Amino acid sequence: MDYERTLSYLEQRGQEHLLKYYGELNEEERRILLEDIDHTNFSAVANLSLEQKKRGKLSPISAVTAEDIKRRYSQFESVGLDFLSQGKVAAVLLAGGQGSRLGFSGPKGMYNIGINRKLSIFEQQMNNIAEVNAITGRHFHIFIMTSRQNNDQTVKFFEENNYFGYPRDRIHFYIQDVAPTCDKNGKVFLDRKHRVSLAPNGNGGWYSSLVNSGLARILERDNIEWLNVYSVDNVLQRICDPIFIGATVLKRCRCGAKVVKKANPDEKVGVLCNEDGKPSIIEYYEMPDKLKNKTRKGELVYRYGVTLNYLFNIHDLNGTLVGKLPYHFAEKAIPHMEDGERVIPQEPCGYKLETLVVDMVKLMGSCLAFEVDREKEFAPVKNATGPDSVDTARELLIKNGVQL
Ligand code: UTP
Repeated sequence: MDYERTLSYLEQRGQEHLLKYYGELNEEERRILLEDIDHTNFSAVANLSLEQKKRGKLSPISAVTAEDIKRRYSQFESVGLDFLSQGKVAAVLLAGGQGSRLGFSGPKGMYNIGINRKLSIFEQQMNNIAEVNAITGRHFHIFIMTSRQNNDQTVKFFEENNYFGYPRDRIHFYIQDVAPTCDKNGKVFLDRKHRVSLAPNGNGGWYSSLVNSGLARILERDNIEWLNVYSVDNVLQRICDPIFIGATVLKRCRCGAKVVKKANPDEKVGVLCNEDGKPSIIEYYEMPDKLKNKTRKGELVYRYGVTLNYLFNIHDLNGTLVGKLPYHFAEKAIPHMEDGERVIPQEPCGYKLETLVVDMVKLMGSCLAFEVDREKEFAPVKNATGPDSVDTARELLIKNGVQL
């Protein structure tokens, strides 16, 4: 679009301030700015609503419990191994986040979780993967979603570490799509005089970004049927776990979620339950106190917290593509242009627009809650200290026999 058309396009959307510095820009900068504007999804901002979506009727979900798993272990395992041996499962690592709570400037996966030796989170997760591949004798594809901000550093880190012994042609990096950031009145921020402020579009962007990157052709080419999506921050994450795969397939579910029993009613994890009769994840801040604290026979009724380890059947994923996933407005401190200067606020000044993987579960229609032992599989590194921190994760790694 040229300047005139861009101006009228922006005026119709109340965003003409984005051309405020146009007169000061050189030819190249003008071209970049018009291109940025062309790629910006303004309709997402137009729906700026801070009202919390009203939830449907909630009821507890039944899970394949740890006891059920023990009983049917070999049956689940043999189906899972069969799928893995046939190459029908691949993994997707969500590594596009900004890890702001951890306060580490690089990609979170590069964080050194070791004490007496170097052990990055990436390496620790790759070690967990090696255990599964040793049984099946083949390497599944791993798709790694990065962001514009951390892609180069992440790719370089894998290269420098020789892909942690994994075959190079089985690891695929892709950059997550972006969404605009805006101030509290829905005005899109400029990051520089000639750049619109665009940030990763939330972890729900993993599938549409994979499709947009062109890598989905590998899924088709290799007849991959299931994707195991996992977060970068759980260092005890078991990836492409054959038992989980076998159970989800045998239970005929379109997706599966590894869940743990909540440590206490106030633990900050999303809860898998039923909403209007369909599996759905309710964020910890959305759960009414009455339900959150409800117990039966000494156990929480809404007890299954999600660990960000999901299996999705690919055939059903297309229904979750762009447009279907709602944007959430996350309040953040966002660097932006103000009166000709770039300011870096310390306090939240606007919103990042994020889609969430938890919203995909509801769209899938069916989801297996698969209970795992939190001491063995859930050690999230969210904060520098306190709960879900480097300290708690290290403690759990040591308990599981990992030398740090
Ligand atoms: P979090 O919700 O913990 O977000 O991500 P974060 O950005 O990493 O951390 P904070 O909130 O700033 O401290 C959960 C998982 O989703 C990925 C993260 O990399 C992590 O694996 N994620 C998050 C993305 O891949 N893209 C995003 O846009 C957001």
